[in-house]
Amino acid sequence: MTAQLNPRGDVAVLVPAAGAGVRLGPGGPKALRLLGGEPLLVHVVRRVATAPSVHTVVVAAPATEVDAVRQLLTPVAPVLVVAGGAERQASVANALAAVPSGPDIVLVHDAARALTPPALVEAVAAAVRAGHDAVIPVLPVSDTIKRVDAAGVVLTTVDRSALRAVQTPQGFRRGVLAAAHAAAGDPLTDDAGLVEQQGVPVFCVPGSEYALKVTRPFDLTLAEHLLAAGH
Ligand code: C5P
Repeated sequence: MTAQLNPRGDVAVLVPAAGAGVRLGPGGPKALRLLGGEPLLVHVVRRVATAPSVHTVVVAAPATEVDAVRQLLTPVAPVLVVAGGAERQASVANALAAVPSGPDIVLVHDAARALTPPALVEAVAAAVRAGHDAVIPVLPVSDTIKRVDAAGVVLTTVDRSALRAVQTPQGFRRGVLAAAHAAAGDPLTDDAGLVEQQGVPVFCVPGSEYALKVTRPFDLTLAEHLLAAGH
């Protein structure tokens, strides 16, 4: 079976799914936790695979779960599955190395953002296609944000109008992401951070509430409700 979706698509989506997910409590890799009876990773891959620009999806699975993840995803969509690394950044690098020639746009998308609408995948890809080398989906911050010291005493109140919460998928011109990973130092929590370190401007597009990251038990409960409501 070919691991190709739309042969005329110009987008590869990398899904780092090799995290342990300790913040959701015991019970195995987070990407394989159930949401509405199916693993988070299945929800993510199903949605990404319906985005019309997507040529290839590469999933980085826990090294011990590569065969199981391949079997899990075979009925969902044609995807490549590779072993992830000890850090998210290494998992992304492994997935990037597996992208076949063809797609010039690479999106990196956390498996934990199970309900991300395919339209957000397309919006990020479109902004890269329009000429931005690096694109991130963002939401405004609604809570007041304060900087505090180790003793829990407030140091300053931050101007929240200039702050954004950053989601995935993050999109890149393929060569820009490859160069940033090749030059990467200490692991960062997102790929745009690596690109920023290379001096590449990162462009923001509107994110989606539905692209929430399922990190804590509360997020899973919220995601269950959203899924039941048809999202
Ligand atoms: O741990 P965190 O929630 O920041 O993980 C974000 C994403 O990176 C998740 O989809 C997780 O599976 C993935 N990850 C990975 N390899 C690691 C650590 C995290 O693919 N070693």
